[in-house]
Amino acid sequence: MSEEKKYKRTLITTALPYANGGVHIGHLAGVYVPADIYARYLRSRGQEVLMIGGSDEHGVPITIKALREGVTPQDIVDRYHNIIKKSFEEFGISMDIYSRTTSKIHHQTASDFFKTLYDKGEFVQKTTQQYYDPEAKQFLADRYIMGKCPHCGNERAYGDQCEKCGTSLSALDLIEPHSTISGAKPELRQTTHWYLPLDRHEAWLRKWILDEHKEWRPNVYGQCKSWLDLGLQPRAVSRDLDWGIPVPVEGAEGKVLYVWFDAPIGYISNTRELRPDDWQKWWKDPESRLIHFIGKDNIVFHCIVFPAMLKAHGKYNLPDNVPANEFLNLEGEKISTSRNWAVWLHEYLEEFPGKQDVLRYVLTANAPETKDNDFTWADFQARNNNELVAILGNFINRVIVLTSKYFEGKVPAVSSLTDIDNNAMEEMRSLRRETEKLLDNFRFRDAQREAMNMARVGNKYLADTEPWKVAKTDMARVGTILNISLQITANLAIAFAPFLPFSAKKIFRMLGINEMPWDKLGSFDLLPDGHAIGKAELLFEKIEDSVVEAQIAKLNAIRQKNEAEQWQPQPVGETIDFAAFEKLDIRVGLVTECSRVPKADKLLCFKIDDGMGGRTIVSGIAKHYEPEALVGRRVCFIANLAPRKLKGIESQGMILSAEDADGRLSLVSPDAEVRPGSKVM
Ligand code: 2FM
Ligand code: ZN
Repeated sequence: MSEEKKYKRTLITTALPYANGGVHIGHLAGVYVPADIYARYLRSRGQEVLMIGGSDEHGVPITIKALREGVTPQDIVDRYHNIIKKSFEEFGISMDIYSRTTSKIHHQTASDFFKTLYDKGEFVQKTTQQYYDPEAKQFLADRYIMGKCPHCGNERAYGDQCEKCGTSLSALDLIEPHSTISGAKPELRQTTHWYLPLDRHEAWLRKWILDEHKEWRPNVYGQCKSWLDLGLQPRAVSRDLDWGIPVPVEGAEGKVLYVWFDAPIGYISNTRELRPDDWQKWWKDPESRLIHFIGKDNIVFHCIVFPAMLKAHGKYNLPDNVPANEFLNLEGEKISTSRNWAVWLHEYLEEFPGKQDVLRYVLTANAPETKDNDFTWADFQARNNNELVAILGNFINRVIVLTSKYFEGKVPAVSSLTDIDNNAMEEMRSLRRETEKLLDNFRFRDAQREAMNMARVGNKYLADTEPWKVAKTDMARVGTILNISLQITANLAIAFAPFLPFSAKKIFRMLGINEMPWDKLGSFDLLPDGHAIGKAELLFEKIEDSVVEAQIAKLNAIRQKNEAEQWQPQPVGETIDFAAFEKLDIRVGLVTECSRVPKADKLLCFKIDDGMGGRTIVSGIAKHYEPEALVGRRVCFIANLAPRKLKGIESQGMILSAEDADGRLSLVSPDAEVRPGSKVM
């Protein structure tokens, strides 16, 4: 790998999560597990590595949460910083420091950084009109203004986007805006801010990313390219807010650094806090490599804005790579903190104690490296049962059991080697090369698959050599087989250590050896003859259907609660007079036949006894009812609707149904056996 030659050390940063909630599987899969795999891998290769993390504790969402709970922003960040920190520790995310942006050292670092840029003339100052909430006494970020969308009329469009029609908006576009903080009508007020003129940085950014970093992941490169192609605009780096780092220039009272200006500087502050004496070499020495692990929503800040800040400062290294992941969905829906649609790490550990590695494994196996992916409980169960238990755990368990059975738990000697033995060893070495190449290229999902293939090699080797049969005739041969199997087991501990650190530790313990570095991978002299191995421990256990069903039921309950909360009655239609109402002829009908309409998955064809000789009505409710179940049922229908053709069938009316919050349709029926043809009024 060329990096090894060019660079002496690697500084790994992990996106600083906002301290206004816990962390969930999306965070873990997107940023922290891949960063941890990479850090552990490089450390195991003997490289100098620092992995930096921390909480992002400024910004409007934190002040809003505090306001809503009637506590201070500091209370909020203190609460969540500790929860997040603990979750990362529990999942073995091996950060060298997990600090926070409310620390003194960060305030000083960010403030100095701003001052340097300010003094160098790297900002421009601009005065603009912005919405101000007179009740909450603060300027409003676009997200906190709601109003009517000028494009589709949605009454609940945000100041940055209408989520109904998807149009991006400016708060000034909204019709009848109101503040979501106080409900007040916002006023336009003048305000002055400092802007980072990204347009001035565009030329070198284009060259640096588009020409010199073609190796970045296509999703990262592509997003950068579209930003650059649109042309960069100056970005405000200050806000009118009383929570954050004060803008360190005269006349800036009541203004703080924009959270996206101070947060990435947090990587620098936290390195300083960890290594007060030599932090600079990690950031400024050309032999230090900077890698940012982030999710896709942070790409522009880490590939364009932060590099522009670093360049403007003048002394810092730029990131060498930004292996951003796409998003992980949960059971087909976007993970959402506000809708509680997530698997929270602290809850997972209460329900699956000791199973950190199972989650790490599943999240890596399904990592959203190139596209959004879906976490499902069924996949979680299948990967645990069919891979961790049936392949990895099964192999290691058999080797340990056979060694105690035939050799009293001592590593037997090799007598002579056959082709089968040599092939297995060669396959392990070739898998090491493959795994390494993938890890060097941030392809963690495929790398883990290759590590699992090493366990497959082990299982195949046992199946081919059948030591339990050979034991009847040739114990020397059994010794060779088990020696090689034990060496494969030690290899598995090395290979899986970056991915499954808890299990790797157990495997080393079961073998009675200390942890071994990556360069031993592919060796077959890891356990000396006669070495006494340790006791067998449970590595993985089967997850039963009932356990997974309980998780799915929990999510279903959340889904129903969300739907109930989100439901809003449709606005009442235009007023009509009585004469208009009288024109509508609604009747009761009895369903005599009902069948699916071929090639139309939504339609059912009804034959109705309407008390007037019968009629046919086609209705779009096939997704909600089985046709057979409807025969004999009374329904209400509009009898005087002009007939129209649906899939070649003439439909003579319309059957009435009510739509629930989740889109389910229910037929409207009289609650007694009313005679077919009766009028409904
Ligand atoms: O998107 C987020 O959660 C931000 N808090 C990430 C910040 S990353 C870095 F810049 F600190
Ligand atoms: Zn709209």
